[in-house]
Amino acid sequence: MINHLKIERKEVNTPTVSSLYFRWDRKVKPGQFVMVWVPGFGEVPMSISSIGDLKCITVKAYGDSTRKLIRLKEGDFIHLRGPYGRPFSEPEGDILLIGGGSGMASLRTLIGPRATGIIASRTSDELLFSEEFEKEKRIEVTEDGIRGLKGLVLMGLDQVNVEDYSCIYVCGPEKMLKAVYERIRGHKVRAEFSLERSMKCGIGICDSCSINGYQVCVDGPTFSIEELGEMTEFGTTKLLSSGRRVQI
Ligand code: FES
Repeated sequence: MINHLKIERKEVNTPTVSSLYFRWDRKVKPGQFVMVWVPGFGEVPMSISSIGDLKCITVKAYGDSTRKLIRLKEGDFIHLRGPYGRPFSEPEGDILLIGGGSGMASLRTLIGPRATGIIASRTSDELLFSEEFEKEKRIEVTEDGIRGLKGLVLMGLDQVNVEDYSCIYVCGPEKMLKAVYERIRGHKVRAEFSLERSMKCGIGICDSCSINGYQVCVDGPTFSIEELGEMTEFGTTKLLSSGRRVQI
């Protein structure tokens, strides 16, 4: 069922990312997603980036549908169904969140006093939700080096001992996920990754989101590091919405 929800608040987060807040009485867990219908363009999967009284989606403008979404104003309506997908496990004790680019949107609901963040982006003005971490628990990494460490996300990982955390939660471009996976596998730490795949139905029918026999919309989008270890397609290939398989 599609829900038609009024945008109560709009927040511009970076030059290309904005958050749209709306009231919705559904219970949503960290890591779950919704299918947002954009009239004239179809549906796009989006993570929920706030799960309090006001729920929120955080939109990065990268295609026609998301460019249309990001132009919506307070008082306009969004149309969505869900929530869908396997959430992240309940956080316990000290946790580490690793987010690349707009990937921080799906991790935002896990930010709290015991969360350390490695927040990575290409440019410093694209750092997302960094200020929501306590100052001493914030490790920023940017390719332009204007803010934080200059380089890629693994430089942030060099600053911490991953085994100090009860769990590591990771979301971002798949190349980044793969690099983090390679770095931390073999360590004694639990880790969960949020994967992105082309989605059409969002409910396990069309198979457009499949990866090595898993359906990302119902078996994921969060997967444990052990599950990723069994996926030969992880970090290597994916299906486009046309059905063509491409290298990542
Ligand atoms: S999007 Fe259709 S099966 Fe996952």
